[in-house]
Amino acid sequence: MDDLTPSKSDLDAIEIASRDEIEALQLERLKWSLGHAYERSPFYRRRFDAEHVHPKDLTSLADLARFPFTTKQHMRESYPFGMFAAPRENLRRIHASSGTTGRPTIVAYTQTDIDNWADLMARSIRATGGRAGDIVHVAYGYGLFTGGLGAHYGAERLGCTVVPVSGGLTERQATLIMDFKPRIIMVTPSYMLSILDELKRRGVDPRSCSLALGIFGAEPWTETMRGEIEQAFDMHAVDIYGLSEIMGPGVACECVETKDGLHLWEDHFYPEIIDPETGAVLPDGSLGELVLTTLSKEGMPMIRYRTRDLTRLMPGSARTMRRMERIKGRSDDMIILRGVNVFPTQIEEQVLKCRGLAPHFQIELVRHGRLDTMIINVEAEPDSAEPAVRRFSGHELEHHIKSVCGVSTTVVVHDPGTVVRSEGKAKRVVDNRPKD
Ligand code: DLL
Repeated sequence: MDDLTPSKSDLDAIEIASRDEIEALQLERLKWSLGHAYERSPFYRRRFDAEHVHPKDLTSLADLARFPFTTKQHMRESYPFGMFAAPRENLRRIHASSGTTGRPTIVAYTQTDIDNWADLMARSIRATGGRAGDIVHVAYGYGLFTGGLGAHYGAERLGCTVVPVSGGLTERQATLIMDFKPRIIMVTPSYMLSILDELKRRGVDPRSCSLALGIFGAEPWTETMRGEIEQAFDMHAVDIYGLSEIMGPGVACECVETKDGLHLWEDHFYPEIIDPETGAVLPDGSLGELVLTTLSKEGMPMIRYRTRDLTRLMPGSARTMRRMERIKGRSDDMIILRGVNVFPTQIEEQVLKCRGLAPHFQIELVRHGRLDTMIINVEAEPDSAEPAVRRFSGHELEHHIKSVCGVSTTVVVHDPGTVVRSEGKAKRVVDNRPKD
């Protein structure tokens, strides 16, 4: 793989500023953001008044802990436009989350917000090794989901040539990669595996294709998956994080030269890690729930938004801005099986380690009598479809999961190509337990 490290002279000065400079900027912007939220959004005014806090109470970054959290539930209650902090006619765009668990959550951007977002996505793509002139194949979905348009505007801002493919139509994805020869692909890691299958089906050696860099996010994935994709394509696979409530993709991103966690773009977002049970702020290095506050958002500021994503904060490395560890999972995705906590990423790691199994899997939860059971539906590799080999792989996986995660599971090894494929965010868990 080529060395894609960007030149220091191409970076934004703030990316490598001193911690003192970064924190001074954060304090100044945080004061502005709290004041803006309080003055312009009735939602925040009510919340702050109820807690007897005022933006003037903030004199240090640590004072933020005195302000109340914002949750997805608050956003649902404010549906559709109740959290906006700018007049509707000053809003240039609206995005929304899919709303699979209730009302969709709506977010809005002024022109300045859209410009900042494009700048931060351009910064992210550059950090991963992209540069002006690259062809970028965007296979994140376009539409209300922030992935496609976020990637699109950022790549254009960096000076790349964008191919706005969106998600789905896997055969066409493969054709466009072969014909247009992009250097970069931006897609969910699980959908990248579907594209890999399609290339192999055509007899194409993925290592010989033009892709040198994949910018993967929107769902949890593991170091083992990074290894699998880098090996299959002879490309760099880099992690990008974001969420619509805060902006979209580009809130944090890995640097290609270190691949050691995601640098949070701290000039626009202030991170805290809290204990999800008590809400107490934890010191850097502790595992907990990521809470984010926007420092420059006009259309819809977010104050202490509880992301539900579990990670820890670490000091800067390739940049002075702090890093967050690869997301372990969301607290709402955590499966509690007979008292043991399991994340889908832990299952992913074990599936990828088992010989004879393809990297596609889905976890099914069922109830037998009074007992909850976890079934892992996986798929045999095309050249390991013999019943005896399958049985062996299945037992191997059950054994690994038991010894690493501490739970007994039932592994079902299906025919090649039969486990449901992702075209965007993978749905890793299907809960078929009776609702009681
Ligand atoms: O998924 C934005 C995005 C698009 C990020 C493309 C990266 C690339 P939402 O649909 O609002 O926005 O979902 C946000 O997805 O809270 C995490 O739980 C999860 N997530 C996003 N990026 C990562 C990542 C987009 N790199 C939710 N690793 C977040 C793990 C991620 N989980």
